[in-house]
Amino acid sequence: MPITDGHELVAPIPYAENGPPHDLWSRLRAESPVHFCDPEEYERFWAITKHADITEISTQPERFLSEPGINILRKRDREALEASAFGAMRVIITMDPPEHRQVRKVASPVFTPKAIRALDEEIERSARELVDGLAGADGEGECDFATDVAAAHPLRILSHMLGVPREQEPDILRLTNQLFAFEDPELGRDAENREQALMELGMELYGMFDAIIQDRRANPSDDLASVLANATIDGEPMGPMETVGYYLITFSAGHDTTKNALAGGMKAFLDNPDEFQKLRDNPDLIDQAVEEVGRWTSPVNYMKRTAAADTEVRGQKISEGDSLVLFYASANRDDEVFDDPFRFRIDRESNRHLGFGIGEHFCLGANMARRSMRALWLELAARTESVEQIGEAKRIHSAFVVGLKHLPVRYRIRPSEG
Ligand code: HEM
Repeated sequence: MPITDGHELVAPIPYAENGPPHDLWSRLRAESPVHFCDPEEYERFWAITKHADITEISTQPERFLSEPGINILRKRDREALEASAFGAMRVIITMDPPEHRQVRKVASPVFTPKAIRALDEEIERSARELVDGLAGADGEGECDFATDVAAAHPLRILSHMLGVPREQEPDILRLTNQLFAFEDPELGRDAENREQALMELGMELYGMFDAIIQDRRANPSDDLASVLANATIDGEPMGPMETVGYYLITFSAGHDTTKNALAGGMKAFLDNPDEFQKLRDNPDLIDQAVEEVGRWTSPVNYMKRTAAADTEVRGQKISEGDSLVLFYASANRDDEVFDDPFRFRIDRESNRHLGFGIGEHFCLGANMARRSMRALWLELAARTESVEQIGEAKRIHSAFVVGLKHLPVRYRIRPSEG
């Protein structure tokens, strides 16, 4: 009997019911770190579970391609995806060098640490307003931390960067939820069938971003929305699919991921109250805490690569065209790299986690995600007097961008002084 046929590694329901399969990954890392999977319903793949192998693959983009796709799909969904508006959209995350580098350069100046610091005021305001809202006048209350805080914070920041008007924030949230939690009965889209749902979703997203693009072409400023709307590559304006794709990837890659890191981070603090106390006593630990939350939650569970030619990984023969699935969440518990990997410790000294990936496609928004988390944890650590979980934490039906969709809490928070 093989250790696994891979179903529970890529199917959404086991993640919703049991969370990420850490026991299975530990076994795979020890016994079969490059493991062939051929689940009945899903495309076949090699499961890559060791930190060193994921690093080796991610840093050789000519040998291991992103262009053929970054997800493992149900066999029957592949055609629907290719026929939909998403199939036609070109985004950096599914490009390979040399094109990838050219297109990444368009937006990278907006995401440097210096450029993101210029947004700090906006990021800190969002954190302060959200915590003020929780505290209200008397400082006591209950909320769903996942929807009310973790989703709201990145939504505000990204909307500000991308020029989405405040009144359209709920629409963009609904659409990106539908995209990432396509299988989730609560968050997914209602439609006659899956093909129809994908088609409609693509058209709706396209319409929303195209309106912003037209506006920024007519009235350019120096925000990300304008940079993308007016970008040129080799002196030629970026095509409409590339431009809309860039909006979509920025929004969708930035929103759910940060949200899941924040909600999962809060759950880690609730389960490890000593670690929250450590942060309250010593806010200088904040940057280490942010990295530990990234390692612990690993909101991007995996990315796929495709072998460009016959090759080997850790002595295992891989054929041209084979899919390799890089399980970052597994690498982030690899005891060859992390001491005591199953402990959440905000003062971890060395933390080479792969939560933001590594190499060619290293997360473009990592600085922004870090500053967003930093601001919210600092505000909460400074003002929270008590916080406890008061109901079941519910996980999203997704094996790709993973995390909590509900986290009910009761708290006492110092109200705003201003
Ligand atoms: C905690 C939050 C986040 C996590 C865990 C995360 C994770 C990742 C990972 C693992 C990759 C690598 C993909 C690969 O190797 O194929 C990636 C790429 C990317 N991320 Fe993030 N991300 C986060 C936040 C953000 C934010 C806030 C933005 C934008 C505002 C963003 C934009 C992107 C983009 C555009 C890429 C593609 C880069 C490329 O292909 O060169 N991400 N992210």
